[in-house]
Amino acid sequence: MQENKSRGAFSSKLGFVLAAAGSAVGLGNLWKFPYITWENGGGIFVLVYLVCIVLVGFPVMIAEISIGKVSQKDPVGAFKVLDGIKSPFRFVGMLGVFGGFLILSYYSVVAGWSMEYIVRSGADSFRAVPRQEVSTLMQKEEMQDYAKKRIFAMQIQKPQPDNIKEEILLDAGLIQQTTKKDAIYYDQVNEQYSKNLDILPELLKKKKKLAKWQTYFYEQFLKKKDAKTKLAKILLPKYSEQSFIDFISNGKKPLFWHTLFMLITLLIVIGGIQKGIEKASKFIMPILFIIVGFMAINSLMLDKEQEGIRFLLIGMPEKLHGYSILEAMGHAFFTLSLGMGAMLTYGSYMQKHESVVKSAFWVTFLDTVIALAACLMIFPILFVYHLHPESGSIGILFTSLPLELVKLPLGMMMAVIFYILVFLAALTSAISLLEVVVTYLADEMNFSRIKSTLIAALAIYLAGVPSAFSGDFLTMADHFASRFVLPIGGLLIAIYAGYRMDKEILHKEFTDFGISEKVFRFFYFSVRYITPVLVFLVFLTGIIGFGK
Ligand code: PHE
Repeated sequence: MQENKSRGAFSSKLGFVLAAAGSAVGLGNLWKFPYITWENGGGIFVLVYLVCIVLVGFPVMIAEISIGKVSQKDPVGAFKVLDGIKSPFRFVGMLGVFGGFLILSYYSVVAGWSMEYIVRSGADSFRAVPRQEVSTLMQKEEMQDYAKKRIFAMQIQKPQPDNIKEEILLDAGLIQQTTKKDAIYYDQVNEQYSKNLDILPELLKKKKKLAKWQTYFYEQFLKKKDAKTKLAKILLPKYSEQSFIDFISNGKKPLFWHTLFMLITLLIVIGGIQKGIEKASKFIMPILFIIVGFMAINSLMLDKEQEGIRFLLIGMPEKLHGYSILEAMGHAFFTLSLGMGAMLTYGSYMQKHESVVKSAFWVTFLDTVIALAACLMIFPILFVYHLHPESGSIGILFTSLPLELVKLPLGMMMAVIFYILVFLAALTSAISLLEVVVTYLADEMNFSRIKSTLIAALAIYLAGVPSAFSGDFLTMADHFASRFVLPIGGLLIAIYAGYRMDKEILHKEFTDFGISEKVFRFFYFSVRYITPVLVFLVFLTGIIGFGK
């Protein structure tokens, strides 16, 4: 087959490896991997994940890049060229292009959040609750409860005139959680006021009453020596969470960042493979490696007890369960950008004399190193500040973590650097997602690169608008893509490479580049047997756990 010069190509193996590693290293490495490792007890889970990378991730990556390299086509065209114009596998390509479209639509919104947080960190807004926010936060029911409880505890310790006591008792009756000491009073209150119980909620609702509470709270409680620090400790995480929620549900701001992020992605992709994608990757990836290394070392120095490393190596094996294996497996796909044609597309721009297997090895290796380094960066912070992430949502990256980052040596700068890292990692992944759709339009519709890029970017941008306005929509799109599109795409690609593709074409990718027969046999066995079985299982859990 002739080299198709007009499509463009990566100039060198390094160019390809950095671009493909840029695609692989993303939000999946920086947050999702540390999070699932934490959830599944570290240690053995990391081992299981590494086994999945070697047994499934690496072979499927070789298959995807090879399909791209030999066909020199977009994901749909590749199957048409290799398997006939009416090949049923062209639908696998279509699913992939659709996947790229869908993933980028919300990925760009999340990347936009990181841009907002670069600005917020720069403005040093994670150290204290702004004055004007305190009273808003105090309107929250749980804060009301907290304030009442504190005042009640204060009041019962000193003698009071009857009328004040009565009022306090009345309010105390509204507190749900009480300490032992409070509980005695609570009973008495209930006893005394049982006749009036039904009017209590109304009393609570009365603005006058609440205002009085606040005045009292500020005047009496906050005067106490340690009160401000105590209150700040409780208010700051609430404030951080609240301002994140306010931000993502604000609509306009996320939309602004989504717009800007898509524009930056567009400007890089429109430049083409060498002058756009390769150039950007060669510039961004070294910066990214330096930041990750710097932050990991910084965190490790903080972690005098080395709890972070110990968790990564030994951890809590009892937390590992059957589902963990499937989780590790599913993540291997997401983090290596497999199952939707991103690697296939990049492979189609690889030069004939470059080795698929060696490149795939480097991409897999770099992605794994960054994922492990991200753990070394985040775990010490979690341990040292006793932070326990409970939800798998992307949110914690923007709620609890910034509060801890600013406490590090060089605090504010670390937070800024961290969000720059998140932004850059997301950008190189976004480029690859857009390129999948652009290559499809260029190859299948014969559009020029400029036209393809403008159409693809605009369509994806519009598809992302609902995600910019609604976190629920965003989560739904993510679940659908990562639990349905990627696993089924990966399964079918492995089946294609293992059962339908000309074995000799694949074989040549090994022998022509001096890679041993043993490695080829391992690869072929994996795509034929191991991958289909494992991916099928992941796919099933994806379906079963769809509503989760
Ligand atoms: N690999 C990227 C990450 O880890 C996500 C991604 C998936 C990018 C599929 C491209 C294609 O965040």
